[in-house]
Amino acid sequence: MRIGIPAETNAGEKRVATVPEVVEKLIKLGFQVAVESGAGDQANCNDDSYRAAGAEIIEGAAKLWAESDIVFKVAVPTSAEVGLMREGITLIGFIWPAQNPELMQQLAAKKATVLAIDTLPRQLSRAQKMDALTSQAGVAGYRAVIEAANAFGRFFNGQITAAGKVPPAKVFIAGAGVAGLAAIGTAAGLGAIVRANDTRAEVADQVKSLGGEFVKVDYEEEGGGGGGYAKVMSEGFQQAQREMYAKQASEVDIIITTALIPGKPAPRLITAEMVQSMKPGSVIVDMAAERGGNCELTVPGEAVVKHGVTIVGYTDLNSRLAKQSSTLYSTNLFRLAEELCKTKDGIINVNMEDDAIRGLTVIKDGEITWPAPPLKMPAPVAKPAAKPVAAPAGHGSAGTPASAGKIAGLFIAVALLFLLIGAYAPAAFLGHFTVFVLACFVGYMVVWNVTPALHTPLMSVTNAISSIIAIGALVQIAPPTMLGLERPEDWIRWLAVVAIGLTAVNMFGGFAVTKRMLSMFRK
Ligand code: NAI
Repeated sequence: MRIGIPAETNAGEKRVATVPEVVEKLIKLGFQVAVESGAGDQANCNDDSYRAAGAEIIEGAAKLWAESDIVFKVAVPTSAEVGLMREGITLIGFIWPAQNPELMQQLAAKKATVLAIDTLPRQLSRAQKMDALTSQAGVAGYRAVIEAANAFGRFFNGQITAAGKVPPAKVFIAGAGVAGLAAIGTAAGLGAIVRANDTRAEVADQVKSLGGEFVKVDYEEEGGGGGGYAKVMSEGFQQAQREMYAKQASEVDIIITTALIPGKPAPRLITAEMVQSMKPGSVIVDMAAERGGNCELTVPGEAVVKHGVTIVGYTDLNSRLAKQSSTLYSTNLFRLAEELCKTKDGIINVNMEDDAIRGLTVIKDGEITWPAPPLKMPAPVAKPAAKPVAAPAGHGSAGTPASAGKIAGLFIAVALLFLLIGAYAPAAFLGHFTVFVLACFVGYMVVWNVTPALHTPLMSVTNAISSIIAIGALVQIAPPTMLGLERPEDWIRWLAVVAIGLTAVNMFGGFAVTKRMLSMFRK
């Protein structure tokens, strides 16, 4: 089958659905690939690079749409594009079926099969490689920080220079979903002090792990609305959140807002008074601008200055990093193509029994199949019931008395074993055996009390400690008079020198590796 990549026609859209590196992979899957001339120009992919990757370059959108069996697109198709489509085509790209009912009807009339990348069931771990919402939100979050840095008149990191001391910038991120987390990581990486808030308390650890501080709202209410998304919060919560945001606004230099609720307008989090309370020169980047904005004063698509604060409402953050966004997006589509063409013969099978494909397919052969039925996720594993404090009399199955009995039995068995060994084995053996058992016990206690994440550095340090055997080799090469021993033969002494060399590698290498590993756990 032939995959067509048209040039995007929406104003300001600079992305392309497939980059040359992915063209090669699609060809290996058995597809032919045709690209409209100039489709990748704004994402730094020229016609020659597509040709070199094995694609055919086609002049004009009409010819491309007419000759393609499958079309990969980024932006929602326009009516003009639907007009160019031939019947029975397979279209893959962003569709947003809930927001575009008319488009759905037009596509159904074309007897198309449509896979909307935005309806992917993201909660399926198998679907993550196809999750374009995540890949694009990650790029946009990064770019939001770059836009903030561009509009901000100071450094992000604190510096002490001969010309004076510069305090680090303070950045507050509202909403710690995919875009928010990317923004936290980027701002922290640039050296800013980063704080963040989200209605879903479960993200607090993720915020911390990226170098941010999670700022809680002083109001108890769970913010999860299912599937990792947020819900509209109660009036009480919103009031408490406004108070906290007002405090943050007066303290920080940059606010990046990313808060969204599926199917609802973006929550209004930053009021005009909060903007007014910010220091002159501060910056707000409102990533929710397209959905109404998290800030009252945002102008979608523009950067405006209000009360001395630059408010960036760009809705094309992904196009402002077109090559990166296109590369990640086309990799998502390639992974989807792999799922659709498991036979690697260039023929797709839209298998409606597959949960991920079912979720994506909003129209099948002209029949609207959206919304997909809810996923049957495995029921969460029930937490084991709390252990009874003491087992009922006569029942030794659980509880402290039974385990205490087991431990006592084990001790008696070990003591009997030692008695037997003591009675029959040679005296030297008993000494060595005792040391062996104690070593096992101490080793067990040490390893089991260390967090599993630290087991690898622990292993390398114990490996280094085992180099204590170097003492044996040192004894061999020491002057015999020093230890009152007989001088060993020369070949033994040379062997000892080699052994010391090898042990030194083990010893210094082991400590060096441990140091490096432990530094990975330190901030
Ligand atoms: P999103 O773009 O819909 O929302 C962005 C963030 O805004 C969310 O974290 C949301 O909780 C927050 N928010 C909403 N209202 C708010 C308010 N009033 N105040 C402060 N914050 C508010 O969400 P996105 O980024 O697309 O994904 C959100 C979550 O979805 C992820 O963090 C993850 O848990 C989940 N997800 C799960 C995946 C999986 O299971 N494989 C894949 C991708 C996302």
